[in-house]
Amino acid sequence: MPYDHGRHFLAILGPSVIPDDVLRAMHRPAVNIYEGPLIDLTHSLYPDLKRIVGTKGEAFIYIANGHGAWEAALANVFSGGESVLVLESGMFAPGWGEIASRMGLEVETLSAPKRSGVDPNALEARLRGDVGHTIKAVLVVQIDTSSGVWNDIAAIRQAMDAAGHPALLMVDCIAATGCVPCEMDAWGVDVTVSACQKGLMTPPGLGIVFANERAMAKHRENGCRSSYWDWTPRANPERYYQLFAGTAPVQHLFGLRQALDMIFEEGLDAVYRRHRVIARGVRAAVEHWGSGGPFELNVIDPDARSDSVTTILTGDLDADEMRAICEADLDVTLGIGLGQTVNAFRIGHMGHINAPMMLGTLGSIELALTRMNAPFSPGAVEAAVASMAQ
Ligand SMILES: Cc1ncc(COP(=O)(O)O)c(C=O)c1O
Repeated sequence: MPYDHGRHFLAILGPSVIPDDVLRAMHRPAVNIYEGPLIDLTHSLYPDLKRIVGTKGEAFIYIANGHGAWEAALANVFSGGESVLVLESGMFAPGWGEIASRMGLEVETLSAPKRSGVDPNALEARLRGDVGHTIKAVLVVQIDTSSGVWNDIAAIRQAMDAAGHPALLMVDCIAATGCVPCEMDAWGVDVTVSACQKGLMTPPGLGIVFANERAMAKHRENGCRSSYWDWTPRANPERYYQLFAGTAPVQHLFGLRQALDMIFEEGLDAVYRRHRVIARGVRAAVEHWGSGGPFELNVIDPDARSDSVTTILTGDLDADEMRAICEADLDVTLGIGLGQTVNAFRIGHMGHINAPMMLGTLGSIELALTRMNAPFSPGAVEAAVASMAQ
């Protein structure tokens, strides 16, 4: 029986649910882009974005998705032929590496153990082996949205320091920003890449890149062969339009302003706590299902499980059939498996989410499984509630 009435819930891994207040803030006619309120509003975004990723460095807002932000970061610090080391723990770091390769960089990959986060000891050993310091940067994703892995960025920096290696540390925080702590300066990150469509609760379209002084120095040394991505005019604009290398993304800026206001009104710590508690509930539910069926959390090490996405393996159970029932009849869209070798699906729990959204999603999945006569242990919502209540 279809229950398709009321609000459809999008539990994919971005774009995430857009709050009504953000949509309302965007719903306005075009405004003057030469002077007036838009200019002040734009300038107010930079300190707030820097606060969320914990940096006093530079911030650049691009009209771009995450792929654009990836490319912007690379274009500004490297010249062709330089080498980067990609730390793989899912599909996204290799995706960034693919762009680097197409831009003429030498790309080497160090893979995490299967279904785990990056191993800092392996990184240290690899960097110690690079005696000539040919590797110019280490590229890593804080939360890999395909595997559900959370990487310990502070430990990765410690490994680089222990190896005495001068490479830049470049981190994709796209699925982490506004969901879990990102401490760019405290963790020694040189470049942070983000985007607005996940924890920042704004429709896709803004890529955000942060750079510290080390990265800016390398940028000045290398120059940038792309006029659009170039940090130099964006960092020191003589005219407002240079911030965006053209027309500003007006409505997005209003939407992002509203989203940031909501984040600070709730408080960053409260935002992170909400993500942590909800994620813990989701994991408890999956483990409960798994006690009577093939369900398994993809990430084996509990400390490497992310608080914004959970990837679930379903063995020989057809996850796509379950997702199709959820989509068509139960008004919840789940993420497809990405890069797993068995059936899998993903639940996004990032940004504008609360307990009823997630408990409802878990209950809906259970309803779909019941309709499929799937082997699983019922009662996952109770398991999630018990865990969230702690
Ligand atoms: C961790 C991560 N990095 C990069 C990207 C790429 O972003 P986009 O799809 O906006 O280009 C995504 C997209 O889901 C992501 O989850």
